[in-house]
Amino acid sequence: MSKPAKIVIAGAGRIAWHLGKRLKAKGLPVAQVLSRTAAHAESLAQTLQTRWTDDWSEVLPDADWLLLAVRDDAIADVAASLAPYLPDTLVTHTSGGTPGTVLKPYFNRFGVFYPLQSFSFERSPVWSKIPFCVDAQQEEDVLFLKRIAKTIGNLVYRVNDEQRATLHVAAVFANNFANHCFAIAEKLLAGKDLPFELLHPLMEETLAKVLQESPARMQTGPAIRGDAETIRRHLDLLNDHARWKELYEKLSASINPDMEI
Ligand SMILES: NC(=O)c1ccc[n+]([C@@H]2O[C@H](COP(=O)([O-])OP(=O)(O)OC[C@H]3O[C@@H](n4cnc5c(N)ncnc54)[C@H](OP(=O)(O)O)[C@@H]3O)[C@@H](O)[C@H]2O)c1
Repeated sequence: MSKPAKIVIAGAGRIAWHLGKRLKAKGLPVAQVLSRTAAHAESLAQTLQTRWTDDWSEVLPDADWLLLAVRDDAIADVAASLAPYLPDTLVTHTSGGTPGTVLKPYFNRFGVFYPLQSFSFERSPVWSKIPFCVDAQQEEDVLFLKRIAKTIGNLVYRVNDEQRATLHVAAVFANNFANHCFAIAEKLLAGKDLPFELLHPLMEETLAKVLQESPARMQTGPAIRGDAETIRRHLDLLNDHARWKELYEKLSASINPDMEI
């Protein structure tokens, strides 16, 4: 990068912490942390050895890039609060489920910097394996975001709002819904004094297979085979769990729409 960009992060949650630390580690120090809760802003700023504020009007007016790392539903409000102070700054949010255009009413230069991974405080991200999905209105801003993403990670994609909306739904199926199914499995086993670890090898094999082949081709189980009698027995076993029973029926019908249950 020709001259170091002046980077400001708004928000002090999971994404702000992980991105802030990674940017610093890669020689892209954050110049300021803004957050509505002073203690959170201060704590992250201390870690990043930078300044902080909980007053939006104190945002550095010469910031090159503002990374909005706040809750999805707060993006527009925070953007509206910061807009008067940042007429020339590139502003991006980090949300997969929010269009970049929510920033359009507030900023001339706006975009999205979405790291497609599940971040938590307890785990260190494997940056080389995180796809960064970036987009911006102006081509030079896209190049800037791609360069940043390439510096802190390895996998960089330009993904527009329409594509990212679908990507986010797909991620909910692949991550959140799959995880919920794991949670149901864990509870069912606990009800019969069986350890969840019993399923670990099966879960590992499932993931290994779908990373190698199309999941549609790798589908196994009673629904794809059309084993209606087995399915009826499973449904009987789920009589005390109406929601899980309904989920089982719906997933089975989605796997094999031709089968009569
Ligand atoms: N975590 C992930 O796995 C992940 C992955 C990809 C993208 N993202 C995106 O990254 C963004 C931040 O997510 P996160 O996981 O970092 O969330 P988080 O850990 O819950 O932190 C949310 C941040 O938003 C701030 N905030 C909430 N409501 C606000 C409001 N009304 N006004 C101002 N600030 C507000 C919070 O401030 P306080 O500290 O004062 O509460 C906190 O700093 C979201 O857009 C999310 O979709 C998250």
